[in-house]
This record gives sequence, structure tokens and C-alpha cells, in this order.
Amino acid sequence: MTTALITGATAGIGAAFARRLAAQGHNLVLVARDTARLREQATELHDRHGIEAEVLSADLSTDGGIEAVEKRLADVRHPVDLLVNNAGFGNKGRFLEVSMADELTMLKVHCEAVLRLTSAAVAGMRERGRGGVVNVASVAAFVPRGTYGASKSWVVQFTQGAARDLAGSGVRLMALCPGFVRTEFHERAGMGTDNIPGWMWLDADKLVAAALTDLGRGKTVSIPDPRYKALMGLVKVAPRGLLGGVTSRTGRKYGPQ
Ligand SMILES: NC(=O)c1ccc[n+]([C@@H]2O[C@H](COP(=O)([O-])OP(=O)(O)OC[C@H]3O[C@@H](n4cnc5c(N)ncnc54)[C@H](OP(=O)(O)O)[C@@H]3O)[C@@H](O)[C@H]2O)c1
Repeated sequence: MTTALITGATAGIGAAFARRLAAQGHNLVLVARDTARLREQATELHDRHGIEAEVLSADLSTDGGIEAVEKRLADVRHPVDLLVNNAGFGNKGRFLEVSMADELTMLKVHCEAVLRLTSAAVAGMRERGRGGVVNVASVAAFVPRGTYGASKSWVVQFTQGAARDLAGSGVRLMALCPGFVRTEFHERAGMGTDNIPGWMWLDADKLVAAALTDLGRGKTVSIPDPRYKALMGLVKVAPRGLLGGVTSRTGRKYGPQ
């Protein structure tokens, strides 16, 4: 039986990863800040699927929280075979409207935690000659969208570079780039979603199923939905200046994704 560690496992995309992986028979280590919610989820997944689900409460915006997860990932007696770096959030507002403290917290959770946890996990995976890491980025990585888009762009670049360095080691790394997904994300950030067209919304369970298929196929970047694949194709050829104007306006109206 293999073990998967998922950060941000209590809601949205992380909870969908937990459901899917538990249904496939993987044991889980569930990471988030809300301990009561983690325990409830662990019990439910254990009862439904007969898997072992550990609870690890950690705030990934703190050194102590990151260290606790690094320690679990480095435990050679209980190896982790799949790491899903998914915890994340949005900040409402344009540049200079968001406090410096909130900007830095985003970089800590989206970049520093992802770097440190990937490193902690991959060291053992490389020795064992197998393992996988999914780093949840966003299609916002491909357009100019403030600190959120920049941090997700870092996730994509970091993951692609690490995947190249680890080619042939048996360890797979993939950046997952969703569009808008129905989760708690926008509500937590205080973002309105009324103006987002219905066709743009993705379902977290379908997204995760497609992402795991892409990981199995050895992709290093996954944009799992044909609608967003087509949109990102257009983004590649659109003039940068035009794109910046559009995303600067719509990004703040709709909220980051
Ligand atoms: N929803 C979208 O439209 C969308 C689109 C593209 C990419 N994404 C990305 O997908 C990922 C998951 O987002 P989601 O939409 O599923 O959001 P969500 O429903 O709000 O869930 C976020 C999860 O992250 C955890 N979390 C937040 N801050 C944390 C911290 N400091 N330390 C540890 N855990 C923390 C939360 O649990 P606790 O509060 O208990 O800690 C929760 O389990 C994020 O990286 C996000 O950027 C989302």
C-alpha cells in the first residue's frame, strides 16, 4: 500500500485529491490548519475506504508548520510515495492594496513551503527510485496577475526544472494548472464570483481525476480541461501588453484563481 501526503486537504481541490486517492486504496497524511476538520475527514475516509489516514495540523505560513511536514516527509520508516502541494489562498486587491504581510504570507505558502516540502519528499523518493509530486499552480501562472500569478508561475517553472533534473530517477513531478474551480477559495478571499461565466467553472473531482491521469502519463505541466487548454493557447499568441490590461481588470473583479 502506498502513502500520499496532501497539503490543504480539508477543502476544495485538496479534499478531492484525498477522496480520489483514498478510493484508490492509498493511505493518507492529511495536512491543514483546522485540526477538528482534519480529524473528521480522516475518520470519514478511513470508514468509507478502509485506508489509514493520519492527521498533521500545520500552518504552512510558519517555519514551525513547514518543519513539521518536512519531518514527516523525511521519515524513512513511513515513506511518502506521493506528495500533493496544494495548500493556497488568494488575496483580494491590486498591487499596493494588499498589505506587505499578506503578500509575504502568500510567497511563504505558495513558494517557500512548496520548495521545502518538495525537497524533503524527493530526497527519499530518489533513493527508493520511485515517487511523485503534484504542485498545484494555476492558469494564472501564464498571465500577468500580481503576486498570485507570479507565485504560481514560480511553481510551474520550479516544477518543470526539478522534473528535468530528476529525469530517469523514477520520480515524477507535475505542476497542475486549473482554471476556476468551485471550492472555498473565492469566499475565503472575499471575492465575488457572480461575474464568472458558468462555462468557466470546473469540478474539483473531475479536475483531480484528469490530473492523476496526466501524472501517470508523465506530463510535467497539466492543464486538465480542453476549454482552458484552448484559452492558454490563445494567451501564448496574445500581445503581452493587451493581456496585462485585460487580466489586471478581470483579475480583481473576479478574484484570482
Ligand atoms: N479554486 C480555484 O479556482 C483555483 C484555481 C486554480 C488554482 N487553485 C489553487 O488550488 C489550491 C487549492 O485551492 P482551493 O480552491 O481548493 O481552496 P480552498 O477550498 O480554500 O482550500 C484551501 C485549503 O488549503 C488549506 N490552507 C490554506 N492556508 C493554509 C496554510 N497556511 N497552511 C496549511 N493549509 C492551508 C485550507 O485548510 P485550513 O484553512 O484548515 O488550513 C484548505 O484545506 C490553491 O493552491 C489554489 O491557489 C485554485
